Amino acid sequence: MAAITFFELDQFGLGDKKDYIKEHLKKHNITFVNEQLTEKTALKAKDSDAIAFFIYSKVNDSLLSKMPKLKLAATMSTGFDHVDTAACKKKKVTACNVPAYGENTVAEHAIGLLLTISRKIIPSVEQTRKGNFELTGLRGFDLKGKTIGILGTGRIGRHMAHYAQAFGMTVIAYDAFPNEALAKECKFSYVPLDELFKQSDVISVHLPENKDTHHIINTKNVRNIKKGCVLINTARGGLVETEALLVGLKEGIFSALGLDVLEEECAIKEEPQLLHETFQKTCDLKTLLEEHMLLEMPNVYITPHNAFNSTEALMRILDTTIDNLNSFFEGVPKNTIG
Ligand code: NAI
Repeated sequence: MAAITFFELDQFGLGDKKDYIKEHLKKHNITFVNEQLTEKTALKAKDSDAIAFFIYSKVNDSLLSKMPKLKLAATMSTGFDHVDTAACKKKKVTACNVPAYGENTVAEHAIGLLLTISRKIIPSVEQTRKGNFELTGLRGFDLKGKTIGILGTGRIGRHMAHYAQAFGMTVIAYDAFPNEALAKECKFSYVPLDELFKQSDVISVHLPENKDTHHIINTKNVRNIKKGCVLINTARGGLVETEALLVGLKEGIFSALGLDVLEEECAIKEEPQLLHETFQKTCDLKTLLEEHMLLEMPNVYITPHNAFNSTEALMRILDTTIDNLNSFFEGVPKNTIG
């Protein structure tokens, strides 16, 4: 029997699944900690063999030191930027993730952001809520006939390609590892990045962030993008240099942005926070202020890293995490990372 601690369940809407988890991990001793994993809350898992946590828990060397018995760190997410896999390796902690749970879910959110922009959904709703049913300023544009450039044709990108085609869009794509069979099946063609920039009326980003993709859209190449392009990013904020977004908006290269992710996702609640020492250490102030400007722009639609957040996707996350935990303690680790 292993001791397993789940963090942050309540914080992402799975607080009511505690009995379900116990039932499906019945060979093990389960503890729930409602907060995210921090240096302080890690002490609550000091005797745990395994932890399950979410993206707001930064699993690093110092945090791992607080849990000396730990054998498995299971992130309940696909992305694992928040897990220091080298530190895990050093401490002989296996790390695992949930490689797929929201492929359709994230792509649906990306389409949602795109339709929000193309059909001016937010101003339309805001106006009618105020009793104003005039159409002035609410004319949108069709997706049919437009070209969408998809950066990254992995699990999410390929769903995006299917959905875009259903709207009658022409799909082109860029990927370091082109999958020609997929391109044939989904009827899209791969083009070099600059060509995608030149041709796309819409760009949707579905790449992982790594040293090659960090700032793949940046101040040096943003001017190669077709004027009036709509940029959708539901992948990682660091894929797009924040300053390039501002330059692009200022120069009309981007007519609108739909962002589920920001480069430095350190939310600011009140301006005095900016003066706090801890805040300055953890956040890039310049980037943060630029993002603050983005928040106030009428043609920028930001959602709070919410693309994964559907009932069905959350259950897939939970079921895969349960499977990861059961399998690991049966001696068959699954979905290991790093
Ligand atoms: P995936 O791994 O299935 O696909 C990524 C694609 O990017 C692959 O086709 C790969 O060949 C390509 N790629 C990798 N390195 C590249 C490079 N250097 N240059 C060009 N192409 C490269 O990933 P998946 O599942 O489609 O997810 C994409 C991203 O979406 C994740 O990495 C994550 O950052 C983000 N995500 C965001 C969520 C949200 O709630 N906003 C939820 C889940 C994922």
